[in-house]
Amino acid sequence: MSTPVLSLRGLRAGYGRRQILRDVTLDVHAGQIVALLGRNGAGKSTTLLAVAGFLPQVEGEILLDGQPLAGAPHTRARRGTGLVIKGRSLFASLTVAENMRLADLAPDALLDIFPELEARLHVRAGQLSGGEQQMVAVARALLRRPRVVLLDELTFGLSPAMARRLVDAVVERARQDGTAVLAVEQHIHIAERMATHAAIVAEGVVKLHLRRDELLARAEEIEGIYLGHAVDV
Ligand SMILES: Nc1ncnc2c1ncn2[C@@H]1O[C@H](COP(=O)(O)OP(=O)(O)O)[C@@H](O)[C@H]1O
Ligand SMILES: [Mg+2]
Repeated sequence: MSTPVLSLRGLRAGYGRRQILRDVTLDVHAGQIVALLGRNGAGKSTTLLAVAGFLPQVEGEILLDGQPLAGAPHTRARRGTGLVIKGRSLFASLTVAENMRLADLAPDALLDIFPELEARLHVRAGQLSGGEQQMVAVARALLRRPRVVLLDELTFGLSPAMARRLVDAVVERARQDGTAVLAVEQHIHIAERMATHAAIVAEGVVKLHLRRDELLARAEEIEGIYLGHAVDV
């Protein structure tokens, strides 16, 4: 098979002396959408932060197109990582159009993905609904044509209709551009809607790698063992 766009090998990382990731190993190939599933506190967001360069001490390997990915977050973003974290992506006091321009993007490009935002282009980002903000954040990341887009709970807190709209738009655009996607999810039904593959993480270790057909066949079992009740620790 071809070289993965993103390859994590035995990733270990934490906060200070507290180790969180113990063995995160997974690949994301071009055109794949890999759902990183696990319960609250499993280490999903920490994995994305490690890849994007926000954790000072990471052991193991992070490869982008087969080459080590290192350095500050902006260096990694230039290499082709696009991170979408809820609540941190947009400048609330700037308009949607200004937020697009800050990312070196033409405001209208947003409408290729989300035409329903046309009337919102000159509204401050802080005035948008949570779903609309997430649309702008994810479109901005995708339109910069990253090699891999890292999504942290894309649909958290959104209505089911808004969640479906976002997920379907991301799937379509990623497929069209061949963008690799690593999508952190706590809800298996979102993973079922979007993922080509899944990696199941528990206590900082990727325990299972599944193809889409395996995820669908084992969804109930996986939910019971690895997702179940969210325990925040
Ligand atoms: N900034 C931080 N400092 C210390 N511990 C943290 C920090 N962020 C997360 N943690 C801890 O790391 C563990 C994994 O967190 P996280 O990766 O956010 O889990 P998930 O995204 O899977 O819910 C949790 O126990 C959490 O409390
Ligand atoms: Mg998280």
